Amino acid sequence: MDPTSTPAWAELTALHGSFTPDLRGWFDGDPGRVERLTHALGDLHVDLSKNLVTDEVLASLVHLAQDTGVAERYAAMLAGEHINTTEDRAVLHTALRRPAGQAPSLEVDGQDVDADVAEVLGRIDAFAERVRSGDWVGVTGKRVETVVNIGIGGSDLGPVMVYEALKPYVQEGLSARFVSNIDPTDLAQKVADLDPETTLFIVASKTFTTLETLTNARLARDWLWERLAAAGAIGDDDAARTDAVAHHFVAVSTALEKVADFGIDTANAFGFWDWVGGRYSVDSAIGLSLAITLGPDAFRELLAGFHTVDEHVRTQPLERNVPVLMGLLNVWYVNFLGAQTHAVLPYAQQLHRFPAYLQQLTMESNGKSVRWDGSPVATDTGEVFWGEPGTNGQHAFYQLIHQGTRLIPADFIAVANPAYPLADGGRDVHALFLANFLAQTKALAFGKTAAEVEAEGTTGALVAARTFAGNRPTTSIVAPALTPAVLGQLVALYEHITFVQGVVWGINSFDQWGVELGKQLALQIAPAIEGDDDALAAQDASTRALIEYYRAHR
Ligand code: F6P
Repeated sequence: MDPTSTPAWAELTALHGSFTPDLRGWFDGDPGRVERLTHALGDLHVDLSKNLVTDEVLASLVHLAQDTGVAERYAAMLAGEHINTTEDRAVLHTALRRPAGQAPSLEVDGQDVDADVAEVLGRIDAFAERVRSGDWVGVTGKRVETVVNIGIGGSDLGPVMVYEALKPYVQEGLSARFVSNIDPTDLAQKVADLDPETTLFIVASKTFTTLETLTNARLARDWLWERLAAAGAIGDDDAARTDAVAHHFVAVSTALEKVADFGIDTANAFGFWDWVGGRYSVDSAIGLSLAITLGPDAFRELLAGFHTVDEHVRTQPLERNVPVLMGLLNVWYVNFLGAQTHAVLPYAQQLHRFPAYLQQLTMESNGKSVRWDGSPVATDTGEVFWGEPGTNGQHAFYQLIHQGTRLIPADFIAVANPAYPLADGGRDVHALFLANFLAQTKALAFGKTAAEVEAEGTTGALVAARTFAGNRPTTSIVAPALTPAVLGQLVALYEHITFVQGVVWGINSFDQWGVELGKQLALQIAPAIEGDDDALAAQDASTRALIEYYRAHR
């Protein structure tokens, strides 16, 4: 359905015609605003009150969710319908975190989804415990100290984000590293100081065809063989090499036959299914590095956090459904108020990879120009998500958010209890940190008028320069602490926000054809760079000139 042809869109268009944002006035004239617009979502306290909406606008946005069938689409997704139409697949990441034994059990396309998920989770738990206890050893009998996850996109961004966020939970003596880029620098630097005898590689790839990942996996295998042989730990024969791989390589994939082709015993492989999209896969076996380093209990707590939000979305009415409301607000900003981007600003250093993670989740999902039926969209779709942790961003790009000409809705995320409660001369540093969070959201919402600037003694041209217009929208998300459950809730919140926006826009948020062309062309261009003149001649003039530059400078 074209959302612009719905009655709700007409309502919103009419409201927009006379819409004047006035957060100061709305707060002054409406003592109930904050309470009405603040919601609990599991452990998350979500304050929507500093957004540019009135009750009327919100009501019409909820009508838009009704008119475009958000609840129906969600039910179809949970039931395993093939809502990923271009790939003819179910979309069932929510099944990865259903508690064991939930009734009725979920059967999709003849597959007992619950049983399959439980079986893999059980294997993950068992393997993680073996590594953590030292029962799983390398080829020379030493226990694993470093887990290196080799993957890219959804097979990297989720694990690295969660690992960084939950580092305080990592078992002493264990650590993880993440190799993703095909730039050989990435692997070279990540393994440079590692001991091959205590290193376990996880090759994580849904398809097990991704050029970057397989190339890095081969480089890692060569590194392992060379370093073990140089140390006299293995011989220079095939049997010794196979044995080394068996002790130091495991895999995560939906394509177990390709895992075997690579030389990894499928007994050491952990599967998942085509109904888990790459960017929705951190809670599948793709999280193996997390189960090992954080422990199976923390991993299960993470999954339970996801499930809390899934249940909220399933059971709450649209007008109290937090991911639905946040998705609708984003639609309001993108399609009616002209926002091109959306900032995510964690006031938690541990969440420093969260914006990067969200970039794949949101932009690979909703960066689309055609609807489910192939017809062109009639509105703007996915906005650019970006962000950096506060307070670093304050000293970099906040100027533009405060006083620039663009509207940038921003989500601020913070926790009450820090992992490292340090004091500076008796002052709680976390309190100072959070004072910044509160100051920023306050300044963005309410600004500073020219009269207020003048009242401080400023005169002339400086008055305008020091004036803040305010009415810069923010959502504040706070939680007691950054626990695995809270992190699961946060990630699931954004998964569902992304879903809601996609449904309203009528697009398929679960395919990613836009990354295919570049992959194909890279395969065609590589021979030209390597010296194939026919391949060079087949390139366009600019590409040819760039390749010639490369050849001349190598
Ligand atoms: O970037 C395209 C993509 O297919 C992502 O959707 C996916 O997360 C990533 O590549 C990695 O794919 P794979 O896990 O199959 O190696």
